Formats: sequence, C-alpha cells, structure tokens
Amino acid sequence: MSPSMSQNGNINPTNNAISLKQLATLVAAELAELGDNTDPVARKKVLQAISQHVSTACLDDGFVARHLSARAEGQSVREVLHEDSELGFCICGHVYADAAHGNAHDHGPSWAIYGQAEGETVMSDWKVENTKTDNGQSVKLVKKVDTYKMMRGDVHVYDIGDIHSPSRDLPVKLIRVEGENLDHIERSKIKQIDD
Ligand SMILES: [Fe+2]
Repeated sequence: MSPSMSQNGNINPTNNAISLKQLATLVAAELAELGDNTDPVARKKVLQAISQHVSTACLDDGFVARHLSARAEGQSVREVLHEDSELGFCICGHVYADAAHGNAHDHGPSWAIYGQAEGETVMSDWKVENTKTDNGQSVKLVKKVDTYKMMRGDVHVYDIGDIHSPSRDLPVKLIRVEGENLDHIERSKIKQIDD
C-alpha cells in the first residue's frame, strides 16, 4: 500500500492504515505550521488536527500489533516509539497488563494527546480551586469537574496545564503524543480536595 501525497507534500495515511513514520511526519508538519506561535487557540487547533491522526493509528490493527505489543515481565509499560530531534515531540506506546489508577496531574510545560488503542480508560478532568504553599512549594488544590470514558479510537487533547487522572481496571493499550518527552519534565504539585 503506497501512501498518498497531499497538496502540501505531507504523507497521508491510506485505507485507514498509518505507519509510525507517517504519523511522525504528520505530527511534525502540524507542529512546524504552528512554529513558535504560543496562542492557545492556535495550539489547540493544531493539537486537534494531530489527534485525528492519533485516532487513525489507534484504530489501525497493524499499527497496534507492530508498536503496542504485550510487555515482558519487568519491562516498562512505556516505550518511546519516536522522539523528534528537531521539534522535540514524542510518540509513545503505553501497554498496561494490570489495573492502573493515576492521581490528578499535569504535564508541566508540555501538552499531551492520549489515544485509546485497546481497552477502556475512565478519565477525569480537574480544575484548580486554590493554591497553597507547602514547604516553600506552590501546591494546586484541585476539584474534579468531569469524568468520561475513552474507548478504542477515542483521543483527548490535554493542553499545557490541563489536569487529569486516568483510571483503568483492565489491560489497556495507549498511544500518546507528547510535546516533549514527559520522562524529563517537572509536573506541578497537586492535591485532590474532593475525591
Ligand atoms: Fe497525563
């Protein structure tokens, strides 16, 4: 199957299949268009465009089989599939064999796009109600404002500062695109005040 070329020269997926290279090329093209524009509305538009490509990958059995295979015992759930040396974004595969319940968190200075490739995630969104200082550090006090289910093909954009908490009772496979490698970022200090 040969990829098609769009008018601006980007490689587009065909027949609902997408390769890692195609996905990386599409993400890079969108981010290059955004450039150093820090306007949140412009960024959100670009991230929404990227999320459509992430959804395509989540729904592509071949992509999931190639890049989201079951982890061996002791192997990290997280694999960085692609890290862009120029733009800094990462495409990651996360494969959880067991239940996983995360606390409310943000991604520091980065955005992230979560795509559900297998299984089900119950995601909650939180908003900052207040802040306090604890041992000289600023702590965000957050309240839950929304809870929603993510099924295969569902994708959600978490912009810079968006606070969320995932909950998974059964095995899941996820594709995550991150503005920068989240292994290296510092997250905000957050305390849940109504869970
Ligand atoms: Fe997150």
